[in-house]
Amino acid sequence: MAYETILTDTRGRVGIITLNRPKALNALNLTVMDEVCGALAAFDADDKIGCIVITGSDKAFAAGADIKQMQPLSYQDTYAQDLFAGWDAATRTRKPVIAAVAGYALGGGCELAMMCDFIIAADNARFGQPEITLAVIPGMGGSQRLTRLVGKSKAMDMCLTGRMMDADEAERSGLASRVVPLADLMDTAMEAAEKIASFSLPAVMMAKEAVNRALETTLTEGLRFERRLFHSTFAFEDQKEGMSAFTEKRKPNFKHR
Ligand code: CAA
Repeated sequence: MAYETILTDTRGRVGIITLNRPKALNALNLTVMDEVCGALAAFDADDKIGCIVITGSDKAFAAGADIKQMQPLSYQDTYAQDLFAGWDAATRTRKPVIAAVAGYALGGGCELAMMCDFIIAADNARFGQPEITLAVIPGMGGSQRLTRLVGKSKAMDMCLTGRMMDADEAERSGLASRVVPLADLMDTAMEAAEKIASFSLPAVMMAKEAVNRALETTLTEGLRFERRLFHSTFAFEDQKEGMSAFTEKRKPNFKHR
């Protein structure tokens, strides 16, 4: 499949999506949205893929939604087309998605990274929701996902002042899961993705579903949901294989990957 604004590749059981509008610092126009969502859906449906990595360039993961494309739009335009609702498709990906972020992850770039399951940041990464400087507000989930990830105080600070957070602050705040030197970013993300893709895929998908549930429900309901999914893992052949391999002191050979 030939794309205009992204590159796709596979390495082993990992699908890689690279945002590729270098002249615009990977600004997210509507073509990027359609192509990223399309590539995610294609990897999700591909039996040979167990995990997906989204990345950008060393200078920018993505510097936000495309301001030049948005600038002439009226209220009617944005409302009628439900601008950016198309990104919801990205969050319906059932296989894990890792964001490997170097450089700017601003506005929609930060929001796309937060749609992923976790963020591995290079030490030059800078996160921010600078929409307020344009007299708009986040429109791809920034006010909601950032608040859930870093808490109200820091999310307010980011959304109201438009300041950027460096990689260390992002890790400290729970936005990034780890920070690595820029030169190691892709190796680290690929190592994590390959590890995930080596496990039993239905168990991996259930773990993702269970963690995501925590953001949507009460603790009592979430614990119940987790327990029911946990019980259902005992229907997997791979559960027998995983536990047998442990007791027999050998490597598991999972069938459902
Ligand atoms: N949209 C469109 N074009 C963008 C862009 C964006 N979000 N960000 C950068 N570019 C373009 C610039 O216009 C420039 O293009 P030209 O060479 O044709 O002028 C090119 O990318 C390089 O950018 P700069 O010259 O500005 O590079 P810099 O290194 O001096 O600055 C930067 C980098 C600080 C990231 C700066 O580009 C910047 O502030 N970008 C905008 C960040 C922003 O406000 N993002 C939020 C967008 S709104 C949004 O995302 C809404 C939402 O929630 C969905």
